[in-house]
Amino acid sequence: MTIDNATQIEFWNGETGRNWVTHDSIMEAMLQPLGESVMDTLAPQPGEHVLDIGCGCGHTSLSLAGRVGAEGSVTGIDISAPMLAVASYFARGRSSIQFVEADAQTHAFEAERYDMVFSRFGVMFFEDPVTAFTNIRSALRASGRLAFCCWRPRAVNPFMTVPAMAALELLPAPPEMPPRTPGPFAFEEADYVTAVLTSAGFESVAVTPLQQQLTFGRGLNLTDIVERLVQIGPIAQMVRDAPEELQQPVRDKVVDAVKPFYSEDTGMTLDGQFWQVTARP
Ligand SMILES: C[S@@+](CC[C@H](N)C(=O)[O-])C[C@H]1O[C@@H](n2cnc3c(N)ncnc32)[C@H](O)[C@@H]1O
Repeated sequence: MTIDNATQIEFWNGETGRNWVTHDSIMEAMLQPLGESVMDTLAPQPGEHVLDIGCGCGHTSLSLAGRVGAEGSVTGIDISAPMLAVASYFARGRSSIQFVEADAQTHAFEAERYDMVFSRFGVMFFEDPVTAFTNIRSALRASGRLAFCCWRPRAVNPFMTVPAMAALELLPAPPEMPPRTPGPFAFEEADYVTAVLTSAGFESVAVTPLQQQLTFGRGLNLTDIVERLVQIGPIAQMVRDAPEELQQPVRDKVVDAVKPFYSEDTGMTLDGQFWQVTARP
C-alpha cells in the first residue's frame, strides 16, 4: 500500500526541510511581503479562526495570529517535522497558535472549524489536489473564505530563470517533469487551479496575477548569495548533482548572471510572478 504524499513527506523531512530550517531567515525575508499581501486580501478579523496549510517554519501562522488576536486562533498544518519544530519554537507561549504534523490532504479536520484557510506556497504538493481541497473545504464554515498564493510558470519568473540559465551553460538540463506534477509549479496554469477548486466544491474561484520583487540575501556578498541559491534556491538540485570539477565554474557563471541584480544594500532582487487564488466553500 502506498501512503498518500509519501514522496513529499520524505522530501520535506529530508535535506530540503532541513535546508529551509537552516536558511529560514533568508527565505522569510524574501517571502514575507507576498504572504502579507495575501493576508490583506483575506482580511482576518479579531476573533476569527484560521487554518494555515503547509505553514512551514510558522512565520505566516504568527502573523495571522497577530491579526486575529487572543480571541481568535491559528492552526498551522505541515508534514515537515524539522520545519514544525522551528514553528513551535517561534510560537512558544502563544496559546492561540497550534501546529499539527499531518497531511492536509487526508487529515481528519474538525468539520466547519475555521473561518478561513490561508497558504503561502503550501498547497502545490498534493498527489490528489481535488481530494486535498475537498478535505480542506470540509474544515471551513459555510461563511468561510480561502486565499493562497502559488507560482506562475517558471519561464515567466526571472528569480527562477536568471540563475538557472547561467548554470545550464555548463550543466545538462534536468528532466522535464510532466505538467501538474506535485511541486512548486503544479498550479502554474490558472484554468487548472480553477478546475481543481471547483471540483472540490469551492465557489467564486478567482485566480489573479500577483507580481512581487523578490529580495534574496540582504546583507550578504554576491558569492554568499550564490552559495545560498545553490543550497535552497532554484538551482539547488541541479548543482547538487553536478560533478565536483564543475562546482566552482557553475558558481562563477551564476555570479556573473546575477551581478546586474545585486546591490550591497538589498542583496539580489529579481522579479517574481505568482497567482493569488481566492474562493468560498
Ligand atoms: C514551499 S514550502 C512553504 C512553507 C511556508 N508556507 C512558507 O511560505 O515559508 C511548502 C510547505 O508545504 C508543506 N507541505 C507539502 N505537502 C503538504 C501536505 N500534503 N500537507 C501539509 N503540508 C504540506 C511542506 O512541508 C512545506 O513546509
